[in-house]
Amino acid sequence: MNEDESCAANSQTSHDGVNTDVARARWTLLRQVLRQKQVDNPEVKQVSVRRFATFDLFDRTRPAPGDPAEEQWVEYRSVFFPEYSAFLRDNMGPLRVNEVLNSFDNTGNVCVWPSEEAMAHYCLHNRHMFTGAVCELGGGMTCLAGLMVAVCADAEQVLLTDGNDKCVQNVRGIVERNEKAGKFGSTCVSTRVLRWDCELDISTLEAHFDVVMCADCLFLDQYRSSLVDAIRRLLQPNGVALVLAPLRGDTLRMFCQLARQAGLLVAEQRQYDAHVWDVHLKMLREGKEAYDENIHYPLLLTLTKGSPAQ
Ligand SMILES: C[S@@+](CC[C@H](N)C(=O)[O-])C[C@H]1O[C@@H](n2cnc3c(N)ncnc32)[C@H](O)[C@@H]1O
Repeated sequence: MNEDESCAANSQTSHDGVNTDVARARWTLLRQVLRQKQVDNPEVKQVSVRRFATFDLFDRTRPAPGDPAEEQWVEYRSVFFPEYSAFLRDNMGPLRVNEVLNSFDNTGNVCVWPSEEAMAHYCLHNRHMFTGAVCELGGGMTCLAGLMVAVCADAEQVLLTDGNDKCVQNVRGIVERNEKAGKFGSTCVSTRVLRWDCELDISTLEAHFDVVMCADCLFLDQYRSSLVDAIRRLLQPNGVALVLAPLRGDTLRMFCQLARQAGLLVAEQRQYDAHVWDVHLKMLREGKEAYDENIHYPLLLTLTKGSPAQ
């Protein structure tokens, strides 16, 4: 199963039987992958998304080439802020069929998605805004953005989370590795499984965070409203949530609508970083077939609670 295939092949949305076109397409893709067929159906291509690889924001190098103990590790160094880097394990090998079928959403176990990289870069650029307590939701197998906050900012605490246990186990190893390398200064970094739809997960951390952030998590139809609710409840009254995600059809718009209905103020920015914008324009100009703005260009949403009604 290659990267594109395995990502689209598995989703809690379809797993739990919600009958959407995307869910149907994912199951079609899964069936095709299991049968080792070519993936050429346009509907399937729509949800098979990691053809465009990167906005070139991080260099990846092996810390100790030739050392078998270090083989799985890669050092991600910011191209624009090269004084900041972190060690990651970003290749968890092919997903097994039983993992795809039996476990919670696995889209975070496939790769670091372009939105996560763009958010990590945004955090480095705006590191002054991270003080106090910071939480990343749905950070996938690396929580790269939250990790970069832990590396570059003066935050007191950074909590790195995902709903998938395998992702969180990997992130736990990453945190240990970077802690040993002295990457976090005085910032306290922790990890845990946190599901947006789990009352206990949310209530124990209610109103705790100055910043909540999340990349490319808006397409999950089944969890969109619980994500909105989780963000609202986890934020302290003056907190701010940073959400980066591509449009992916109507999914970003539906998220914004739900967030406004929940009383959050939502600001949307298309141009939030000069380099990311330039790469985007270059891709469009060159008509790169692999680049599809709808699924690859992340917009930045900033969510706040606004002043409470008098
Ligand atoms: C497309 S991945 C994005 C991962 C990472 N942010 C990135 O961009 O590389 C979506 C992530 O949302 C997580 N997720 C999905 N539903 C969730 C839920 N109900 N609670 C917590 N995490 C969830 C998945 O486990 C997955 O890691």
